[in-house]
Amino acid sequence: MKIVFSIRLALFVCALLIGASAGLAQSNSDCLACHSDASMQNASGHSISVNEHKFGSSIHGVLGCKNCHTDIKGYPHPDKIAPVKCAACHADQAQGLAASVHSDGAEHPCTSCHGDAHSIYPKSDPRSTVYPLNVPKTCSACHSTDGMAKKHGLDSVYPSYIDSIHGFALSKEGLLVAANCQSCHGSHKILSRKNPESPTNKANVPATCGKCHAGITENYLGGVHGKAVAAGNMKAPVCSDCHTAHAIEQPTADAFRMRSTPICGSCHTDKFSTYRDTFHSQLGALGGYVETARCWDCHGAHDVLPASDPRSPVNEANLIATCGKCHAGANASFVKYQPHANARNRKLNPALYYIRLFMNLLLASVLTFFVIHTALWLIRSRYDQIKRKAAEGGKNA
Ligand code: HEC
Ligand code: HEC
Ligand code: HEC
Ligand code: HEC
Ligand code: HEC
Ligand code: HEC
Ligand code: HEC
Ligand code: HEC
Ligand code: HEC
Ligand code: HEC
Ligand code: HEC
Repeated sequence: MKIVFSIRLALFVCALLIGASAGLAQSNSDCLACHSDASMQNASGHSISVNEHKFGSSIHGVLGCKNCHTDIKGYPHPDKIAPVKCAACHADQAQGLAASVHSDGAEHPCTSCHGDAHSIYPKSDPRSTVYPLNVPKTCSACHSTDGMAKKHGLDSVYPSYIDSIHGFALSKEGLLVAANCQSCHGSHKILSRKNPESPTNKANVPATCGKCHAGITENYLGGVHGKAVAAGNMKAPVCSDCHTAHAIEQPTADAFRMRSTPICGSCHTDKFSTYRDTFHSQLGALGGYVETARCWDCHGAHDVLPASDPRSPVNEANLIATCGKCHAGANASFVKYQPHANARNRKLNPALYYIRLFMNLLLASVLTFFVIHTALWLIRSRYDQIKRKAAEGGKNA
């Protein structure tokens, strides 16, 4: 009895499914009878042909045309057909978009990122416009060097991104896990960095980069800068202050080393100017000397700590090891050398102050002596010249 019932139920379900799919095919082929003609255009010359094959292989291929074009009830259908509402089935994405910087529906229809309405693929499909490797190109339709970015006063982001370490990893190496626009900005509810909820808001940047760079972010959060930002001191740097957001380079590369001391220096102006007086900096400035010590060779880059902290590499107890990375055989007397010696500060560095004063006085007196000496010499030689001329004139007369 039970078995018979189950068989009947199964048959009933099968019949329903077959009927439904036949009905679906029926109505789609109705539409396609006209719309699969590749040359079909509407009154204003816009193509209204639908590629049956592409549509069939798209994620919506299982739907009926009428599931989206809901106002078509019979044939011939009206010339003007209401725009399709993607929101009817994708409420979350539509809500996110409506709350985002791209909320203007006319300027940013769903298709502005998802492409041709009849060939939308799942985001995991390489044919999709939002497949990780394709996202930058998709956003670049607007966020590139053309007038659009300028019109809205936005930076032209795409060119710097695509040359960055992330862009390179993505476009040249096909690395799916490299950061694309979506990884940092989100997809639908994209917000301005000024919005505290945005993943690109300064306070949230460490967490945003930390989704992938977990180890470094942990180090950063344990250092003074990370602690300061977490406590709301936005004067301290987050990842993008040192690395930029879109033009991120390989930080161990010479190019970054050569031009990056000013990154720390832009905030620590006093330490920057004392560093610049020292041998390490002068050497760096001379003809591209890469190996010399930059700020983070001594202080670390992420877990930066005050010198008084025993874990700091510039804490007195650790200096031999820190300097020893480059100066084999560094000893207690070697590390007495002050990397930030300030010769202009008598209180902090009296010996240096007086040496500098003495050297300056010496320089000034030597210069003065020679200026006077040269002047006297000039006068003397001019005098001799005139005398000689006068003597010669006398002879000729
Ligand atoms: C008998 C042929 C025929 C059939 C069947 C047909 N259409 Fe059309 N369709 C047309 C023509 C002709 C136009 C162009 C009207 C115009 O000149 O703007 C059109 C235009 C459209 C448009 C675009 C309107 C615009 O704003 O440009 C849509 C959308 C559309 N059809 C969807 C469908 C769907 C969905 C079906 C099936 C349920 C369907 N059509 C069945 C002939 C047909
Ligand atoms: C996932 C929803 C969806 C499905 C399913 C769908 N369409 Fe469309 N169709 C759209 C959207 C979106 C547009 C762009 C215009 C608009 O917003 O209404 C469009 C536009 C059209 C147009 C106007 C020409 C153009 O390309 O702008 C025609 C004709 C059309 N569809 C026919 C069909 C036919 C025939 C089918 C079934 C084989 C179908 N559509 C299935 C969403 C859909
Ligand atoms: C600014 C570009 C953009 C616009 C506009 C946009 N999307 Fe998306 N969409 C994306 C990106 C990027 C992804 C991939 C997200 C990912 O990889 O996690 C995506 C993914 C999706 C997904 C897959 C599920 C998900 O959320 O990841 C759906 C469904 C979707 N979008 C629907 C829509 C609808 C409906 C609209 C219009 C209301 C829309 N999208 C407008 C960029 C956009
Ligand atoms: C009638 C309901 C319906 C409408 C209208 C509709 N979709 Fe879908 N969409 C679906 C279904 C069903 C799926 C497949 C199931 C899923 O993965 O959510 C899907 C899947 C998708 C996906 C792939 C999701 C993924 O996993 O990556 C995207 C992107 C998408 N739709 C975008 C759109 C856009 C854009 C529109 C408007 C042009 C639209 N949809 C209109 C029902 C609809
Ligand atoms: C159809 C063109 C278009 C596409 C495609 C597009 N955008 Fe935009 N985007 C804009 C415009 C226009 C604005 C400015 C909105 C405004 O200020 O009114 C904007 C603003 C933004 C902003 C905010 C800038 C700020 O701080 O005010 C971000 C971030 C952004 N877009 C990221 C993206 C990402 C990521 C993608 C791809 C997933 C994308 N956009 C795709 C046109 C586009
Ligand atoms: C590694 C993370 C990351 C990636 C990848 C990324 N962004 Fe950004 N983006 C940010 C951050 C952080 C900001 C905040 C501003 C800043 O620090 O420069 C930002 C700012 C922006 C702005 C606002 C600029 C302005 O003028 O106000 C736009 C637009 C933007 N990004 C678009 C994009 C696009 C398009 C892509 C892909 C080509 C992309 N971003 C890739 C992190 C990222
Ligand atoms: C979606 C994951 C993801 C996010 C989010 C992300 N990155 Fe990356 N990042 C990577 C991957 C993967 C690489 C390695 C690329 C390679 O080696 O070719 C990388 C490389 C780097 C490098 C080069 C150093 C190295 O070891 O190769 C720096 C610096 C960097 N990222 C900084 C950042 C910053 C700053 C942010 C946030 C603004 C960020 N990343 C966000 C995935 C991510
Ligand atoms: C105060 C500036 C500064 C901040 C803030 C900062 N970095 Fe760095 N980062 C550097 C410097 C300098 C290097 C190069 C270190 C080196 O050469 O040893 C570096 C190296 C890196 C590397 C490459 C590691 C390697 O050894 O190849 C990655 C990845 C990275 N940072 C990611 C991040 C992330 C993620 C954040 C935020 C949580 C962050 N950085 C915050 C300055 C900074
Ligand atoms: C965006 C500005 C900014 C940048 C860039 C920056 N710092 Fe800082 N730094 C700060 C601020 C603000 C503090 C104070 C944090 C606190 O304790 O409140 C600080 C604290 C420090 C301290 C501890 C000093 C003390 O008195 O406690 C050291 C050491 C330090 N930074 C070194 C560096 C190095 C090395 C770099 C580059 C790799 C760097 N900073 C880049 C802003 C910056
Ligand atoms: C050769 C190693 C070395 C280099 C390079 C170096 N420092 Fe230092 N830094 C030290 C030492 C050692 C101290 C502690 C003694 C002192 O204050 O002179 C220190 C102290 C500091 C302090 C104060 C820390 C505190 O807790 O009081 C800051 C801030 C700082 N340095 C920033 C920088 C910046 C910015 C740069 C690059 C422009 C830089 N340093 C380059 C070794 C170095
Ligand atoms: C990243 C490598 C590096 C680190 C770390 C470093 N230096 Fe240097 N330093 C150099 C280079 C390269 C030179 C120039 C070549 C040379 O003379 O060895 C130099 C030169 C010097 C000189 C002048 C020339 C000499 O050898 O007498 C002194 C003094 C000096 N460093 C002291 C220090 C002290 C003290 C520390 C630790 C607080 C330190 N350095 C950390 C790379 C480094």
